[in-house]
Amino acid sequence: MKSIDKKANPERERLIREPVLIREENDEDTVVNLSLRPVCLHDFVGQEKIKESLAISIAAAKSRGDPLEHAIFSGPPGLGKTTLAHIIAHEMGTKVTVTSGPAIERAGDLIGILTNLDVGDILFIDEIHRMSKVVEEFLYPAMEDYKIDFIIDKGPYAKTINFNLKPFTLIGATTRSGLLTSALRSRFGIHYHLDFYPWPELVQIILNSARSLQFAIDSETAALIAQRARGTPRIANRLLRRVRDYTQVKNKGVLTPDIAQAALTLQGIDALGLDDIDRRVLVTIIDMYHGGPVGIESLAATLNEEADTIVDVVEPYLLKSGLLKRGPRGRQATEKAYAHCGRAGMPRAKELF
Ligand SMILES: Nc1ncnc2c1ncn2[C@@H]1O[C@H](COP(=O)(O)OP(=O)(O)OP(=O)(O)O)[C@@H](O)[C@H]1O
Ligand SMILES: [Mg+2]
Repeated sequence: MKSIDKKANPERERLIREPVLIREENDEDTVVNLSLRPVCLHDFVGQEKIKESLAISIAAAKSRGDPLEHAIFSGPPGLGKTTLAHIIAHEMGTKVTVTSGPAIERAGDLIGILTNLDVGDILFIDEIHRMSKVVEEFLYPAMEDYKIDFIIDKGPYAKTINFNLKPFTLIGATTRSGLLTSALRSRFGIHYHLDFYPWPELVQIILNSARSLQFAIDSETAALIAQRARGTPRIANRLLRRVRDYTQVKNKGVLTPDIAQAALTLQGIDALGLDDIDRRVLVTIIDMYHGGPVGIESLAATLNEEADTIVDVVEPYLLKSGLLKRGPRGRQATEKAYAHCGRAGMPRAKELF
């Protein structure tokens, strides 16, 4: 197949001029969050095995002068997938281009993005499981051979344009690794699954973030916040900011464990770190479906929530905490959930707040 001179190719020029659909993370208080985001591997708290293995892969790639192999991070929201992608770019000394599966609507969008990458650049595709099949198929040769074949026109006028790309690293992030096709999954050389953080690591994250925010907090109070953070750094940082606001307004900026407790209760977070939607899921399964099993679609319809939100955001922590079980016939509340929701004679969950 003949490679076309890139400079003289109007089709390529058009594709490159297409808006490159780049989405920065859509996080609450994004600016504060970005300032709290660790920049290098050393400052990333916890996930020790992942850090150690990544450090080796990065050092090896750098010493060979190669780009890092393509990497995929999976795990529930807010555990550090995007942060790790930025850290890798920092450690490799390269640029990162950020986009997401649903933002790449057409193959042309992807070609525009890929042809703009320099040698060793990182392309970060968030929610990679939501990429369309057509776009995904263009990604295969790009990942394997750093090239794309693009066919323009149809029938006798059909012409294949061959784009040679510079060696780059694709980093994908997904909250639903089960939805990745095996063809895509097998093209990543590095696979990591991020799990919820134990609370001592969350305490460390809170203490580090408080230092960046210049907010005085002791480890005991940080532990109070950590225990309610659902094992999730993003939630730990959000609760810290709410505690800081509350302390500023209610106690002239002086934080005590009581003040922290009051601020957390105001957020509707209970002793296990569950918020309103977590409790609604459990209470609905118990009261409306006699404890389950109930299918995810019926549950979502009763709650008037998206099934994806329940699966991606709510369920992983409930499963991890032993409040929910998932079987072939659907979701089931556990004994622990009954006790926590005040069923079996205790006050009802709603009345706890
Ligand atoms: N291990 C960590 N150490 C310190 N801070 C962390 C760590 N992991 C995450 N954070 C903080 O938590 C916030 C959320 O992390 P991040 O945006 O990387 O999560 P994510 O896994 O990409 O979530 P989503 O699936 O919603 O995109 C970041 O702003 C970062 O400051
Ligand atoms: Mg992210």
